[in-house]
Amino acid sequence: MRDATDSFDFDEIIDRTGTHSVKWDGLERIYGLTPADDPLAMWVADMDFRPPPAVNAALAQAVAHGVHGYFGDDRDYLAAVTGWMARRHGWEVDPAAVATTHGIVAAFALCLQAFSAPGDGVILFSPVYHAFHRVLRANGRRIVESPLVQEDGRYRMDLAALAGALTGGERIVVLCSPHNPGGRVWSREELRALAEFAAERDLVILSDEIHHDLVLPGNRHVPMPLAAPEVLDRTVMLTATTKTFNIAGAMTGNVIIPDPELRRRFAAVHAGAGTSPNRFGMLMATAAYATGDDWVDALCAYLAGNARLFDEGVGAIPGLRSMALEGTYLAWVDFAGTGMAPAEVTARVEKGARIATSHGAAFGSGGESFLRFNLATPRARVGEAVARLQAAFADLQ
Ligand SMILES: Cc1ncc(COP(=O)(O)O)c(C=O)c1O
Repeated sequence: MRDATDSFDFDEIIDRTGTHSVKWDGLERIYGLTPADDPLAMWVADMDFRPPPAVNAALAQAVAHGVHGYFGDDRDYLAAVTGWMARRHGWEVDPAAVATTHGIVAAFALCLQAFSAPGDGVILFSPVYHAFHRVLRANGRRIVESPLVQEDGRYRMDLAALAGALTGGERIVVLCSPHNPGGRVWSREELRALAEFAAERDLVILSDEIHHDLVLPGNRHVPMPLAAPEVLDRTVMLTATTKTFNIAGAMTGNVIIPDPELRRRFAAVHAGAGTSPNRFGMLMATAAYATGDDWVDALCAYLAGNARLFDEGVGAIPGLRSMALEGTYLAWVDFAGTGMAPAEVTARVEKGARIATSHGAAFGSGGESFLRFNLATPRARVGEAVARLQAAFADLQ
């Protein structure tokens, strides 16, 4: 049988240093790791792979033409977005429901401004993607953390506890689906329970589904609007090609709003931001969604192999536990079992193993004893990371 990963080479080591990459070129400034340390960059959530060939071909065609004026006609782009959603996620999207933004963190900020006011409460299931916290604080919204509960080694929401913590001044509940960190791919039942909760408390569901395609074999992502069509009048979905196809620098994302009234409120704020599409992002995203199916299938199979290698290696170190990923490539490792303070753990990982990771505390309550490791890198590097971690914690074995 042909292996889905055969036709694309995810094993190639591509040197990204000197390319203005935050992940690799930020190592010295942020972690004090120099090239002489032979560091492994496993923090920022982009991948060390080239995108599907059609993406670079689209850019090459634009460069060959050579004139880079304003972007206008977005019909091909919208056809690619709606085609992908229908083909890959079984969801028929009305092109009129799609607004294009400069990435998803920017889209998140615009949504906060459209659907809440300063001082309003916004619910986060923590630990969760660190930029949410930062943007919420910068916009003067009140963060209401709903701690995720660990059950059988995976996260679940505790809506009963959340109900008791609300004051009535909350306007938005943020869903991260699949969840970053921890990689939960929420089930249809979990999504429906959240929808019912939001309807009872009159909350807008802001569903960040940027990891929608990064789902490991055996799991199935259900878009929130498809899981609970009865709450489409309060559902806003954020998604993009940028995580899926490793084109994060394209800074191009979508806000999909089925409800005309919510769409009108978003459009007013979006107009106020005064932005228009990035030509290069639109070209790359169109090529990616139009043609990237086989590449994504191969990628997810490869990422599952990386996750297996990493989890087995890390699981062999007493006191360390890596949460089994259902989606994303972001391994979430709990060091609580070592009994060490976070500062000692990070010293061993960063100075001892020379691995740059994302610190769990930045993801909010419940993340303190964790580090997040980005596994979207050639397998040889994952193997090297495991070997370095085993050496750095050898005294525990
Ligand atoms: C949940 C989530 N949303 C958004 C982003 C980033 O979005 P963008 O780069 O489009 O601003 C990330 C990146 O890691 C993420 O994990």
